[in-house]
Amino acid sequence: LPQYLREDNLSEETKTLISSLPTFKDSVGNLYNYRGCWYYPNTLQGVINYEKGFKPQETDIILASFPKSGTTWLKALTVALLERLKNDTCPDHLLQSDNPHGLVPFLETSVFLNSSTPDLSKFSSPRVFSTHMPFHSLRVPLENSPCKIVYVCRNMKDVLVSLWYFRSTYFNTKEDMESLFESLCEGLSFYAPVWENVLSYWRGSLEDPKQILFMRYEEMKSEPTAQVKRLAEFLGCPFTEEEEEDGSVDKLVELCSLRSLSGMEINKSGKAFNNLPYSSFFRKGEVGDFKNHLTPEMENKIDMIIQEKYNGSGLKF
Ligand code: A3P
Repeated sequence: LPQYLREDNLSEETKTLISSLPTFKDSVGNLYNYRGCWYYPNTLQGVINYEKGFKPQETDIILASFPKSGTTWLKALTVALLERLKNDTCPDHLLQSDNPHGLVPFLETSVFLNSSTPDLSKFSSPRVFSTHMPFHSLRVPLENSPCKIVYVCRNMKDVLVSLWYFRSTYFNTKEDMESLFESLCEGLSFYAPVWENVLSYWRGSLEDPKQILFMRYEEMKSEPTAQVKRLAEFLGCPFTEEEEEDGSVDKLVELCSLRSLSGMEINKSGKAFNNLPYSSFFRKGEVGDFKNHLTPEMENKIDMIIQEKYNGSGLKF
């Protein structure tokens, strides 16, 4: 069982907290609702450890997303953008040495999983972390930190399909698409509701566009060069004119493409600390794959939910 599903090593405080939280069981394990978001027990412990112990630095960068929205891609792009600033290194180097999830660990399921005071000395500035927590939980220990947050959002129908493939290979669940669809629509799954996750960062980005950059998977696919330039500017490392002219932007886009990353040896044979094969983060990477998997009725229902939940927010799908 992956560690974040286990309940046997929770702190006494978390055990007490858990006993008062709304709970239900899905095909993988128990979920608990904390600050409006559903977590497996150890992830919740990680969230609490993070809230208690994270000490932000001004230069920190946090990459946020709902699972299966393009997290791996965003991590690779960020790593490559920052790495190119260092003299004598080519950005390929780091990405060949480890999977983007090894290079940019999750706060709640990795860095703070076991402790509220992890040793972060191996991270040099700017430190890059990631999270699937909604913004209202992420911001708890950030106070007035100027650290930068990048959120990647993807349409819920492709997220559903991607999640289904991921869960069926990783957890070996016999879950059918229909039941995962129902759970997502009801807002009853890991890190759900999707719309609360998306809206928390969307609103945050409207309030403070200097702190939160809101990116969309579909736009990254349709205009990668423009989106990578936007990301670089937000992170404070824009491409120079020289780089634009010598094709560096397109090279970076190509380096971080699904084809390039999934072909790297580390991603073909490597495994994450929780035994998850790195290859499971790369599948099709297409927009609209849901058309091959969802019935028109399922599509309609998701469209209606999205319309209702995002109504008045300014967010369009
Ligand atoms: P599909 O299952 O639709 O193919 P996450 O990284 O948040 O777990 O999301 C995984 C999804 O992003 C998968 O979608 C995966 O194929 C896709 N993906 C991974 N790396 C990518 C890349 N470099 N470019 C585009 N999509 C990528």
